[in-house]
Amino acid sequence: MPPSMDGALKGKMERNGGYFGRPANSRCCSPSARLFFWAATLIALLFIFFMGMTSPSEPRRRVLGSYSWGGPDWEKQVRHSCKLKRENGIVVLVTGAAGFVGSHVSLALKKRGDGVLGIDNFNNYYDPSLKRSRQRVLENHGIFIVEGDINDRYLLKKLFDVVPFSHVMHLAAQAGVRYAMENPISYVHSNIAGLVNLFEICKSANPQPAIVWASSSSVYGLNKENPFSEHDRTDQPASLYAASKKAGEAIAHTYNHIYGLSITGLRFFTVYGPWGRPDMAYFFFTKDILQGKTIPIFQGPNQVDVARDFTYIDDIVKGCVGALDTAEKSTGSGEKKKGPAQLRIYNLGNTSPVSVPELVRILEELLKVKAKKNVLRMPSNGDVPFTHANVTLASMELGYKPTTDLATGLKKFVKWYLSYYGVPGRIPRA
Ligand SMILES: NC(=O)c1ccc[n+]([C@@H]2O[C@H](COP(=O)([O-])OP(=O)(O)OC[C@H]3O[C@@H](n4cnc5c(N)ncnc54)[C@H](O)[C@@H]3O)[C@@H](O)[C@H]2O)c1
Repeated sequence: MPPSMDGALKGKMERNGGYFGRPANSRCCSPSARLFFWAATLIALLFIFFMGMTSPSEPRRRVLGSYSWGGPDWEKQVRHSCKLKRENGIVVLVTGAAGFVGSHVSLALKKRGDGVLGIDNFNNYYDPSLKRSRQRVLENHGIFIVEGDINDRYLLKKLFDVVPFSHVMHLAAQAGVRYAMENPISYVHSNIAGLVNLFEICKSANPQPAIVWASSSSVYGLNKENPFSEHDRTDQPASLYAASKKAGEAIAHTYNHIYGLSITGLRFFTVYGPWGRPDMAYFFFTKDILQGKTIPIFQGPNQVDVARDFTYIDDIVKGCVGALDTAEKSTGSGEKKKGPAQLRIYNLGNTSPVSVPELVRILEELLKVKAKKNVLRMPSNGDVPFTHANVTLASMELGYKPTTDLATGLKKFVKWYLSYYGVPGRIPRA
């Protein structure tokens, strides 16, 4: 309030003896003024009491920001999506279900007869219309995606009240390494606060679900060992994204230790394929090559080509399903641990790194267009020059065996890209 207004108001209040009309010179209020005072106080207290009654647990229908959930029809959709179609099936809450990996995992589980419910906040980190298209595909297979944020504890609690999930496949996150320099808080919101909120709800659920969640190969950061093994150092993250995933692994340890939650972390290595993420190089290279734009090709120190252990989506899905199927039950109940619970971490990669120039060569061949390239020194923005997974542990314990090489996987991606976005040269539909 500007000082002049402040002063004028103060003077007025002093002159009138305050808001409740006590005359400046009188020693006591009139009976009607006192009655008015007590009536107003009572109404205010009743108002606060009723507001308190409706907020903590479960309003019938809640509107939070742009999200709306609750009510009998909504609950019916939630239950229906979780119906089992096979004996001994599992009932899974998939977070980030409208995302690239989440949509594929949800479909794979549903197709084999498991109960699947998705949750996603449909944020605009990349084109949300792609998330809506994935949602439509899932809907056609009977999967309902609840629109909401994993930080919304009322919503998560409500979901666990409606359905006793046996498993959570946690894939919602702020992905991307470079974006962390633009919007660091989004990583704290989704990858740290969101993860803690999810674990809080899971630890209180009865029964507690087993949790499988996506960490990342980026936790290896400045690790010099090659290939990367789960035993290598992960205390030198090169980006805030990597640091948020490393923090997630530490937080997972805590919830396993205190509350007996069964938790499996999966370190994915550069996942690609149909319905992929537009912020990833293979995806925007395809778009830019088709539109005749120059693509940047980064080189590491000493002009060494950057290389990635590109892993095809179907292989990652098999790894996720393998992790869900081998997950032991959580041991806690009533927020208390009843015994030691499973805590695991696995690399899910392809075990054969491919350089970025080779990736571009394959795309040129598939698209039948020569790329315009600009070779640049890799900026210091959190990217690492090289990734290579050792998947011995996942192969022994999850039966994980990647089978798709980059040329085969990119062929499937390009086929999908052209069918989704249309003929070359045309601007992708919004
Ligand atoms: N794709 C890869 O190459 C790769 C590599 C390593 C790790 N990962 C991890 O795998 C997981 C899935 O990645 P993806 O490639 O499918 O990414 P994605 O961005 O396509 O999917 C994540 C989904 O989570 C949703 N989301 C984000 N924050 C949310 C929140 N607070 N509440 C609710 N929903 C939220 C987004 O809207 C998005 O649909 C992520 O945890 C990611 O960090 C991916």
